[in-house]
Amino acid sequence: MMTSVKSPASNNDWHELDATIRPDEPQPEGWYAVALASEVETGQALGCDFLGGRVVVYRRSESTPVVLTARCPHMGADLSLGDVIGDDIRCTYHHFCFGVDGACTSIPSEGAIPAAARVHSYPAAESLGLIWAYNGETPLFPPPTIRDYDESDLLFAVKRTNVFEVAPWLSIGNTFDFMHLRYVHGLDFEITPEDVRYVDDYHIELEIPFVSPETGPFEQRIRVTGTNAVSFLTVTDHTTIGLFTSTPIGHAAQTYYIAAVPKDPSLSHEELEKRLAEQQTFGDDLLLDDARTLTGIKFKVGTLVADDRAMATYLQWIQRFPRALSGAADR
Ligand code: FES
Ligand SMILES: [Fe+2]
Repeated sequence: MMTSVKSPASNNDWHELDATIRPDEPQPEGWYAVALASEVETGQALGCDFLGGRVVVYRRSESTPVVLTARCPHMGADLSLGDVIGDDIRCTYHHFCFGVDGACTSIPSEGAIPAAARVHSYPAAESLGLIWAYNGETPLFPPPTIRDYDESDLLFAVKRTNVFEVAPWLSIGNTFDFMHLRYVHGLDFEITPEDVRYVDDYHIELEIPFVSPETGPFEQRIRVTGTNAVSFLTVTDHTTIGLFTSTPIGHAAQTYYIAAVPKDPSLSHEELEKRLAEQQTFGDDLLLDDARTLTGIKFKVGTLVADDRAMATYLQWIQRFPRALSGAADR
């Protein structure tokens, strides 16, 4: 069964891009956070909105996550209301069971299992306190990581934050909107569009040296993964880390924020917790600033000026990004 709609890299003019989320149209491929890892307990099913539909998230008995479309193909019940039995999810309505690959594994009545009794199984992963699902058949790149650090090197805290009514690529991509860094976030820096490195087809990196009257000079080391995640290391005499990621849910996008600090063995746990709390506040403040500009925005490429050059290159990258609408046929 065809479970995914794929569109080739578009040849459309990138000036036609707008940031409206149309849940029935293909979205950029990539890893999207669907739940906090702490919300998904072994043996329990969790229902989440994802893309234009709903998914059931649960764990295999050995704990790795499973993400399936939640619409039971028998008579349409919501599988997230069902029970986890071993590695399967059992529909609460007539007890059809589905395995981690989405195929029906058993039905309680006599007769053969219908071939169409299957749901879409998303590639799934757990990292940095989030459960991720991949929009696309086979992942083109791994889930977002923090630049320069392994997860095990970090103390981190993750939470669900704002819902914006724009595509993730706009809220994440304002990293490349250098003008907004000056006027929305009040930051002072010297950088040119040529400093942005398109590392490969799926990652972008840049370093921005900032001058702040309050804190003195600091550098941000930024990595964008896919079209919906950005991590930034803020490097002064020590390092703090943030990662924003955003997930389409219906016509809107849910943002998540991870604050992190490296586990510096020379520091007490209290000091690390204090730095982590400061980083959480830093992220909250950034979001507060951005929320003012992203709330109610109807983005369409308009009159770009010379200072928008980095943004224009990013928008062309977005236009070329592979798209899919995984699971749409099983919603
Ligand atoms: S609706 Fe799920 S088993 Fe019937
Ligand atoms: Fe911003």
